[in-house]
Amino acid sequence: MSDLRIQGLVKRYGKVTALDGLSFQVEAGEFFCLLGPSAAGKTTTLRSIAGLERLDAGRIHFAGRDITEAPVQGRGMAMIFQAFALYPHLSVRENLAYPLHEARIDPGEIDRRVREVAEMLRITHTLERKPGTASGGEQQRIAIGRALVRRPKLLLLDEPLTNLDAKLRHDTRAEFKRLHRETGMTMLYATPDELEALSMGQRIGVIRDGRIVQVGTPDELFDSPRDRFVAEHVGSPRMNLIEGRSAGDGSRVLLPFIEIGGGPWASALRQFPVGTLILLGFRPHDLAPAEGGHAHGPRFPARVHLTEPLGDVTVLDLEAQGVLLRMVLPEERAVAYREGDRLEVELAIQETHLFAMDTGTAIR
Ligand SMILES: Nc1ncnc2c1ncn2[C@@H]1O[C@H](COP(=O)(O)OP(=O)(O)OP(=O)(O)O)[C@@H](O)[C@H]1O
Ligand SMILES: [Mg+2]
Repeated sequence: MSDLRIQGLVKRYGKVTALDGLSFQVEAGEFFCLLGPSAAGKTTTLRSIAGLERLDAGRIHFAGRDITEAPVQGRGMAMIFQAFALYPHLSVRENLAYPLHEARIDPGEIDRRVREVAEMLRITHTLERKPGTASGGEQQRIAIGRALVRRPKLLLLDEPLTNLDAKLRHDTRAEFKRLHRETGMTMLYATPDELEALSMGQRIGVIRDGRIVQVGTPDELFDSPRDRFVAEHVGSPRMNLIEGRSAGDGSRVLLPFIEIGGGPWASALRQFPVGTLILLGFRPHDLAPAEGGHAHGPRFPARVHLTEPLGDVTVLDLEAQGVLLRMVLPEERAVAYREGDRLEVELAIQETHLFAMDTGTAIR
């Protein structure tokens, strides 16, 4: 059963269309990430689900009920905002208990829930203090705790890690996963950070210009990006995207440094006129120095422009006919190359992707 069903949401603010026919579904108990750049419509989506926006069109179903027009209270959801605010003059304990007092829960039960949530989030030691004396990460966890004490069925999280430093972001990511495991809650988590989305989301919905571009598991998005935007944002280091045009009998691709055919896109490309502008995409892992006589794909000469050791692997920036390409090699293989070296590289043709230049849509 699908828990949250978003169908054709449209939201306009004057001339700005924030949501433009947005649809996706989140399963009960799922950790779903909404990944998209600034102004894509993430906050508007979450606010709409929480009931804080008046929609121009579309329906929202939750737990089998149409809640499009339902009041904010009673939706069984809690939202943690991009800029969360705690009450500075109340103790952490009072901050956590506040939503329960409002809901007129009896004091013994409030006490029990606050203790339980504080333990789960490891903020018990801060309970009698003011939030201002807690660290940034602790404050974040207090804000999460305040959402959790109400035992929501759905937790909406809007870039909750944005204001934390890198180390805390890393720790808190693990914390969210644990929280999800331990509570079994449905979570909808919005972020512009692909690393966050890919490391936490069981499925990810990629949002751009108020529409969902693709929904899939991290592996699905990595293996078959449906458009250029997904290709560019999923996977690190980023996919190489090289401008070219269709050539030959229409199933081949002409790039500045080579003409290639036989990719998984070849028959789909034939539907386009010869000369159609395209982008050929391939991951830095799918380029390697050519070795021996057994070719798995086309080969071409290149020059090492820059090497960037990252520990286990090294990223080599190559230059071929004025085009820059990234190649990733295990460190022990990369040490053979210096900046300025010339080499012959081989492209794993079966791992290449093709996108139409005008729409960015995958050709396959
Ligand atoms: N109250 C508002 N009035 C006018 N325009 C708005 C309002 N809220 C959002 N918008 C516009 O709607 C679009 C989507 O905004 P939204 O806040 O949903 O993006 P976002 O994906 O959350 O971005 P960010 O990652 O920067 O938070 C933007 O162009 C924004 O300027
Ligand atoms: Mg936002």
